[in-house]
Amino acid sequence: MILVTGATGSIGTHLVRLLLDQGAPVRALVRDATKGRALGCDIVVGDFDEPASLAAAMDGVEHLFLNAGGAQPVEGEQPMIRQQKAAIDAARAAGVSRVVKVSVWGARRGGRLAEGAHWEIEEHLKASGLGWSMLRPSGFMQNFITGAAAFTADGRLMDAYGGAGVSYIDCHDIAACAAALLTGSRGLGEAYVLTGPQALTAAEITRELSAALGRAVGHVEVSPDDLAAALRSQGLPARFADDVAELSRNVAAGSLAATTTAVRDLTGRAPRTFAQFLAANAEALRGGLLSPARS
Ligand SMILES: NC(=O)c1ccc[n+]([C@@H]2O[C@H](COP(=O)([O-])OP(=O)(O)OC[C@H]3O[C@@H](n4cnc5c(N)ncnc54)[C@H](OP(=O)(O)O)[C@@H]3O)[C@@H](O)[C@H]2O)c1
Repeated sequence: MILVTGATGSIGTHLVRLLLDQGAPVRALVRDATKGRALGCDIVVGDFDEPASLAAAMDGVEHLFLNAGGAQPVEGEQPMIRQQKAAIDAARAAGVSRVVKVSVWGARRGGRLAEGAHWEIEEHLKASGLGWSMLRPSGFMQNFITGAAAFTADGRLMDAYGGAGVSYIDCHDIAACAAALLTGSRGLGEAYVLTGPQALTAAEITRELSAALGRAVGHVEVSPDDLAAALRSQGLPARFADDVAELSRNVAAGSLAATTTAVRDLTGRAPRTFAQFLAANAEALRGGLLSPARS
């Protein structure tokens, strides 16, 4: 049995579908049974913050896909550290043999926000004695339809990366890599940096968004310091704003610009381009989930 956590999220929904298509035995951990039933697989209702529910969910599980929400700190703490460590401990107690974990490209000791949080979880997993594989993705293409990417009130994409490129990846490809690892035996003890096929600048992203939407979507450059000031003025903690600014400076220096062959190596096919991603998500674009459509 494969247990998929984060099953209702950007990666998890694709992963459940891919595993079902392969005829793999799959169970989804979900917080909301109604949302979970729409996945079309076995579900168990649980929460990373309720250890007893994790223990029940792991019963009879061989392989675990470990993923949850992002790294918004709560009172200076990253909840995902506590949550994912608890899931790893429950997996060990239940006799799970292998964990495939979604991490982040750049995970390292002392890294800002998700980079430091994922590093701490990775270390916990490595020390657990469980078999492990780490998926370290670049930025998600999904950010442009989920609202995670920032747009101005008049619908222009805000670029705090100084025109630098990012090798954005479609979560569908992350899920395909996870499926390959969860249903096979390779990749034990390996960490994979997952990227899309090319680095795209904000100008290139907005050109493709404009073509897909049939109307002009512009972009505007903001400095990391101005971005931090805007976040502070929205009431976000100063430390968080500073961390976001520092990550933006790193991206502007090219930290997410390289591409790797990991998606092709694991799945046997090329990662999706941004244009392919937009075509596959035309309904979400038409439905106005993209922030500029609301302007
Ligand atoms: N966005 C990026 O560009 C990017 C890049 C690299 C790495 N990452 C990493 O990717 C991961 C996924 O991020 P995301 O924001 O894209 O995820 P997401 O699609 O929002 O999915 C989050 C999933 O986790 C579930 N979840 C959240 N809290 C939970 C809890 N307490 N108990 C059980 N399930 C819970 C959610 O369930 P519900 O449906 O119930 O909410 C949902 O299924 C994060 O670790 C992030 O650091 C993101």
